[in-house]
Amino acid sequence: MKPIVSKDSIVYFGQECYTRLNSYLEKANHSQIGILVDSNTHELCLPLLMSKIEKEYDIEIIEIEAGEIYKNIETCSGIWNALSELGFDRKSLLINLGGGVVTDLGGFVACTYKRGINYINVPTSLLAMVDASVGGKTGVDLGNLKNMVGVISESEMVLVDTEYLGTLPVNQMCSGFAEMLKHGLIQDRQYWEKLSDLSQLELDDLDQMIYDSVVIKNNIVLKDPTEQNIRKYLNFGHTIGHAIESFYLTHPEKPTFLHGEAIAIGMIMEAFISSELLSVTQEDLQHISDVILATFPKIEIASKDYEKIMELLIHDKKNEKGIILFVLLNTIGEAKYNCQVSDELIIKAFEYYNSL
Ligand code: GLY
Repeated sequence: MKPIVSKDSIVYFGQECYTRLNSYLEKANHSQIGILVDSNTHELCLPLLMSKIEKEYDIEIIEIEAGEIYKNIETCSGIWNALSELGFDRKSLLINLGGGVVTDLGGFVACTYKRGINYINVPTSLLAMVDASVGGKTGVDLGNLKNMVGVISESEMVLVDTEYLGTLPVNQMCSGFAEMLKHGLIQDRQYWEKLSDLSQLELDDLDQMIYDSVVIKNNIVLKDPTEQNIRKYLNFGHTIGHAIESFYLTHPEKPTFLHGEAIAIGMIMEAFISSELLSVTQEDLQHISDVILATFPKIEIASKDYEKIMELLIHDKKNEKGIILFVLLNTIGEAKYNCQVSDELIIKAFEYYNSL
């Protein structure tokens, strides 16, 4: 598979990842190399990566706890301190081996430690392969608010090897699949139709589908790396999805969601709003809802929680001058950003979702 060239980074696939990594390591001659893992990827993914590194380097393994609740500034402090104690200088390299939490947080640590050291992303979850690790968004949560602190700065390279997915639980695979569905919905009806015909999907198609998703995302990022305009499309489903994710994160008595599961609900609700305000047909809305509900758990959102979830929308990063701005669909394959939506319509969207 041909590498995908981004603005300041390059995405390699399959075995080419390791030839590129080895020649990069040899040429760059870093003073130190760290590999950031979480407790899962330490055990399940690190042996594969280490077996592919050909030369003997003095590599420090830095481990963090697995899970979104550790995606915060305290975890960053721990890593900054570890790097400092280990004597990492500005010519050091950090390799982030993990899912979206590790690549987002590790990228942020690298971009800020000593005002920036090189980093490489080796995504091990489907979500990180198709979304998180590509495009240079790094950062951490602030309390329960998602990705509030961070910078956009691309990694040296992204290495996508689907062998890492072998140990990924099914719900984590589905979480990444939500972002792939999103890519079809915002940009490519044909890709959406291919993905949505679940009966036809074969595991052998996965590499190509991941590649197609990265192409879609990368084409958007290349045109708008700092999210001034069309990169906002990538937030379809995320305005409501992030608010749902944040709300349930702070209510341990309620079900917890993986990122993609919350985004899946957000995509149904925002597709409903699109059908009310723009040109998404009832047939397409039904199809979007059916496909998503065939893959993701349906939950009942209590009507007493609607307002509390909606209060969180005020923190959305796309808002301007206190106005909440959504990404909606003109139709499947074509998105529109900066759309204002009334509270009444958001409540109708909750009711639509609950009625399914
Ligand atoms: N995850 C959305 C973006 O990278 O813009």
